[in-house]
Amino acid sequence: MFSALCSSSFFLALPDQKALKIDVAFVPEEVHTSEITDKSVLIVDILRATSTITTAIANGASYLIPVNTPKEAFELYEQLDRNAILGGEVEGKRIEGFDLGNSVSEYTPSVVAGKPIIMRTTNGTRTINVCQSALNLVIGCFLNKTSCCRYLLELGCDILIVCSGEEGHFGIEDAVFAGACINILHQQMSNIEKTDSALACEMMYLQCKSDILDLLCKSEHGKYLINIGLGDDLILCAKEDITTVVPVYRDGKIIKAKG
Ligand code: MLT
Repeated sequence: MFSALCSSSFFLALPDQKALKIDVAFVPEEVHTSEITDKSVLIVDILRATSTITTAIANGASYLIPVNTPKEAFELYEQLDRNAILGGEVEGKRIEGFDLGNSVSEYTPSVVAGKPIIMRTTNGTRTINVCQSALNLVIGCFLNKTSCCRYLLELGCDILIVCSGEEGHFGIEDAVFAGACINILHQQMSNIEKTDSALACEMMYLQCKSDILDLLCKSEHGKYLINIGLGDDLILCAKEDITTVVPVYRDGKIIKAKG
């Protein structure tokens, strides 16, 4: 399935152009799957799935398949004749029998280039699977922030940013990233219609945009990762615009859309 262009809008709003609506879901449970079939959905899990996925695709992984449980991962691994990397976590830690955990630093070119990855994480991969009915399903994080926003504008559809949060609860790092995207989108295109959720995220972002790493360290999940010895992951997940690669979910696989 090719990404569907809903309009030819790029970066300038033409007077007669319908406003681009931007909304935010703070957890995947808020998503009404029947209401995203004409939208571009941006999936966010800053700590750490969408940061890890973006890194893996940027470093040459051929594709990723997001699964919901370790059992599903092992079954798919056998179906692929074990020609895949198993990556992901339970409670933030590498799953026993998996090749990789969910740290950005593990997904280097020498490890992932040219290989498929089967990925299971607590929040991010589940959120992707919840939103499969979206017209366009885009993966974003601070690492590809600006390129992500440019791609969303090229697609020209109304946008729903879906925060993964933490096991059904609000995660401030995802909401702040959503706010960063909304701020960029509004700078690029004037007739943007923001919902209250979108406006709240942008206001949160404007309060802490000068030190994203500090925000991640103060977040609940960031503190948890520090406590289990994965604090370095926050440094890597806080880096902004270090890649132009934009991953998208199409036909069951996460692949590179552009960049
Ligand atoms: C995820 O990425 O799905 C989770 O937030 C858990 C983690 O990787 O720490």
